[in-house]
Amino acid sequence: MSKKWYAAKSPEVSEREKSNYTLARKAAAEGFVLLENNGVLPLPACKIALYGMGARKTIKGGTGSGAVNERYSVPIEKGLENGGYTVTSKSWLDDYDFEYDEKYHAWEAEIAKKTAGMAPHEIFAAAKGDPFRFPAGRLVNDEDVRASDTDTAIYVIARQAGESHDRRLEPGDWYLTDVERENLLKLAVAYTKTVLVINVGGPIELSILDEVDGIDAVVFYGQGGMEGGNAFADVLSGKTDFSGRLTSTWALKYEDYPNASTYGHVNGDLDNESYLEGIYVGYRYFDSYAVKPRYPFGYGLSYTKFSLACSDFALQGTRVQAKVQVMNTGATNVGRQVVQLYLSCPVGRLEKEKKRLVAFAKTRELVPKASEELVLEFDMTSAASYDEAVLAWVLEKGAYLLQMGVDAANTEIVAALEMDETVTCEQCVACCAPKQRVDELPLPLPTAYTSLPEGLRRLTIDTKSFSPVTHDYGEPRVVESKREKTLLDTLAPQEMAELLCGGGVLKQGQHNVTGAGGKTTIDLANKGIGNIVLSDGPAGLNIINEITMDENGFERAVNIPEKYKAYAAAAKNMIGEGGEPAYRYATAWPVHLVLAQSWNTELLHQVGEAVGREMLEFGITIWLAPGMNINRNPLCGRNFEYFSEDPLLSGKMAAAITKGVQSHQGVGVSLKHFACNNQEDNRTQCSSNINERALREIYLKGFQIAVTESQPWTVMSSYNKINHIYTANNYDLCTKLLRCEWNFGGLVMTDWGGRADPVLCAGAGNDLVMPGNDEVRQQIAAAVSSGTIDDVTLRRSAARVLHIVLKSDIYQQ
Ligand code: BGC
Repeated sequence: MSKKWYAAKSPEVSEREKSNYTLARKAAAEGFVLLENNGVLPLPACKIALYGMGARKTIKGGTGSGAVNERYSVPIEKGLENGGYTVTSKSWLDDYDFEYDEKYHAWEAEIAKKTAGMAPHEIFAAAKGDPFRFPAGRLVNDEDVRASDTDTAIYVIARQAGESHDRRLEPGDWYLTDVERENLLKLAVAYTKTVLVINVGGPIELSILDEVDGIDAVVFYGQGGMEGGNAFADVLSGKTDFSGRLTSTWALKYEDYPNASTYGHVNGDLDNESYLEGIYVGYRYFDSYAVKPRYPFGYGLSYTKFSLACSDFALQGTRVQAKVQVMNTGATNVGRQVVQLYLSCPVGRLEKEKKRLVAFAKTRELVPKASEELVLEFDMTSAASYDEAVLAWVLEKGAYLLQMGVDAANTEIVAALEMDETVTCEQCVACCAPKQRVDELPLPLPTAYTSLPEGLRRLTIDTKSFSPVTHDYGEPRVVESKREKTLLDTLAPQEMAELLCGGGVLKQGQHNVTGAGGKTTIDLANKGIGNIVLSDGPAGLNIINEITMDENGFERAVNIPEKYKAYAAAAKNMIGEGGEPAYRYATAWPVHLVLAQSWNTELLHQVGEAVGREMLEFGITIWLAPGMNINRNPLCGRNFEYFSEDPLLSGKMAAAITKGVQSHQGVGVSLKHFACNNQEDNRTQCSSNINERALREIYLKGFQIAVTESQPWTVMSSYNKINHIYTANNYDLCTKLLRCEWNFGGLVMTDWGGRADPVLCAGAGNDLVMPGNDEVRQQIAAAVSSGTIDDVTLRRSAARVLHIVLKSDIYQQ
């Protein structure tokens, strides 16, 4: 490995940054969703009375590993001004700043008190679980309204969330605070046009919309990354159409979610989470149980109107192709539409959800009266259901109804695909099944369709076209390259064991990127094996952006971000001067949820490519992203770090961003958190208790798609247990499913400092324990000496770690 300076020497904005900032702006604009609009939008440049906690302090992303230390971030106020609007409510905003600062400093002092005497990593962990809650600001008064001198108001509600902590059913989180309610009621009356902007990583309670008429438009901003404010002005003004569509269902009220009363802290049981809704997650539930949502999955308004016509179908073996003609039927605005294809599967021995997404596509920008033919394709095997009785993916006989639409609640049946016998698509073995079945909610209504449109097109699928897949569940083999074999042959078992444990605290000579999440071991440097660096994700690269580097490559942080100041005191050795200044300005992208709302896999590929370029510049080998857990309940503190409630959409988005990153040589991703990490409170001890069908069809499906379509370099197991077994100790999950069924050839690592037994990881197929420390190292070493970790297991996991280390860019110099 040759030494290279993995940082910019100049603080100037680089060409790479400029092009990434442009892409971040485009991505945010494509990901915002217009929820309501009575015609007030688009809004040409004008005076705006801007209020609300997210107006000037716009939240660009979450806390914890989902954070990024960007060069700048454009809040909504700034974005509006850049876009030619004049903000005329400065005195309210200045008062807000004052209150914010006061409360922030009080919170900071609280954290300092709570963490006094702790080691730096403990401080970070403690502070993660206690994010700062933004104050609501003061009531808007008549003087504010008069001074604002405009008929247009925008009110921005913001909520901060992040790892280690679930959202709460409280005012200031799920519910509006009294101040927010009163302010919105006031603005609705005082201004002719009122726009509500939701700067939150997921839904909030919106019953206020049913109580008052004067809220004219609602925008789901989510968390739009560093260019969010500019992107907001782009969509507000109509420079860009709103082409984002929801990737999760927004209920009318919290109680409408199937697991509302049992989720996490709500029922007080943080140790066991019962996945009692089975496969009925998100729209699958709302649809099948006939519960009306506020905004369905896939929903979003545009500035124009579109017509959809299914022009053609084709069936080739098991592949289905539908051609959909989309036309912009509006008169003035350019727009893009997202077309969604759903399938309603016949109900046989197995219950089925009313419909499930099987394909989607987005048009290019269409000018009025222009049209585009979209080709949507899927394989019938992707619509198979998992039959626990025969341990196989099956397609039951009957009619499969193809539905086309623009959201899950607005679809039209366009064809019937008929099968005259039941086929087995894939024979499996039991994996992660609970000892005792989870009692699932009964279906109140039949989900099968009884009346079909007249003249419906029917195609018959020849069941002989299916060739059932079987798997070899024998111990997976690792094929070592000549170089890997030679290196491994020189290692004694105890040395090989080093590779199974992360590099832990910084050591002399270790390749380091300040602020990055972790490193592999440097203790084998004398054997020619250096270390690589792994960095969070998923909103960008989470590292320190200003450092100094001395002649030995030792780095120090110069610019400790504001949000770390509260607990950076103990990390003093990281801070300071000495050496030459160096810079690593990473892009803060919109959070994954917003990226996914673009429904644009090409865009996610571009974002991935851009992240990959930054990794090469900064000397980072693995991006600890994409995050791809399922949005199961809106209170999960990390939903914004994930794509959707739907496994197909999650899988496709993860595959696209992975392919983008890995289109560069020498860098890779880590799909996380594998799997069922849907609760943040007590996340390291909670057991997700779930039946195998729901596990496979909903929570694993997205990972399966991403693994098989994009071959990620690594996968990160989650903190939680599945049916009482820690995922990192779970052979069924990390070996049988991941490697035997999906042919994953990469490395599996633990999440940071989880509670799974490090000694049982390698045997289960979880090769690397992160971030590594002396205790874990000693435990693994002792297990190798005693034979608890046998030679074959040791060599296999060591080979997988070495393989990734050698694939790294830092070895390609
Ligand atoms: C998070 C992971 C993250 C890791 C490293 C953990 O607390 O759960 O998502 O990648 O830290 O920072």
